[in-house]
Amino acid sequence: MARVLLTRRVPSSVLAPLHAGHDVDIYSGDGAIPRDELLRRVADRDALICVLTDRVDREVIDAAPALRVIANIAVGYDNIDVPAARERGIVVTNTPDVLTEAVAEFTWALILALARRVAEGDRLVRGGGWKGWALDFMLGTELRGKQLGIIGAGRIGRAVAAKAPAFGMKVKFARHDMSVDQLLVTSDVISIHTPGTPEMKHLFNRRSLARMKRSALLVNTARGSIVDEEALAWALDERLLAGAALDVYEKEPQVHPGLKHENVILAPHLGSATRETRTAMADLAVRNVLAVLGGDEPLTPVP
Ligand code: DGY
Repeated sequence: MARVLLTRRVPSSVLAPLHAGHDVDIYSGDGAIPRDELLRRVADRDALICVLTDRVDREVIDAAPALRVIANIAVGYDNIDVPAARERGIVVTNTPDVLTEAVAEFTWALILALARRVAEGDRLVRGGGWKGWALDFMLGTELRGKQLGIIGAGRIGRAVAAKAPAFGMKVKFARHDMSVDQLLVTSDVISIHTPGTPEMKHLFNRRSLARMKRSALLVNTARGSIVDEEALAWALDERLLAGAALDVYEKEPQVHPGLKHENVILAPHLGSATRETRTAMADLAVRNVLAVLGGDEPLTPVP
């Protein structure tokens, strides 16, 4: 009987095949599993189903001598020390595809909300500050005819691009259609869809943010490490860009205290957060574990 640890509760509908014939331990506390608890509970496990807030580093891997598979319920896997797992012959899987549309939809929600000042307007009305309609009141910007620059031409980046014609935007991909620098200088909206690899760390820093159009909007639904939050706060102070929408942060759930501007939308990492998608992600992670434990190839191993 294989032993599986889940670090979060998942919809019960996806658990049934796991319960059949496996010893399943589920951390059911609120929030992330504490580090010492993870180290203790993983020790005798053959499989680990984890989420992006679990740091599965060499210490965790070393603590689990029987571990055969780590299934991340996320497409990103920067929380896992993949080389350390590979050294031990442990399979690492993620959940691509099933969340692509949810993240693309949420990206457009942020682009539209930023361009038309939806969150700012909501705050104003709730705060009792709305004095009534005026011709020049809270003007936003239209998307039609503008350039959407996308960093990252993977599944999510392409799904975001596919919706651009509906809003009359033309799309350019960094490194495919133009250099990153050209994209920074010419885009009206820049949306980030690249993994949070060490090479991408602080791609958006003081220098690159200063290259953007002063009228441009920046959206990040990828990984927090890609945008230097201190630099973004500075660039917004200096009005070097017109606004930013973040769904991910360098030190989640903390947000840089400088990001207080009205033209900033701060979302709590909701990109894939729909009932359908989160269930599909958990289901895919479970199926990956069952495949590996059953001696088959995983469905979605990390590349
Ligand atoms: C992912 O899957 O990497 C997302 O960030 C989860 O929302």
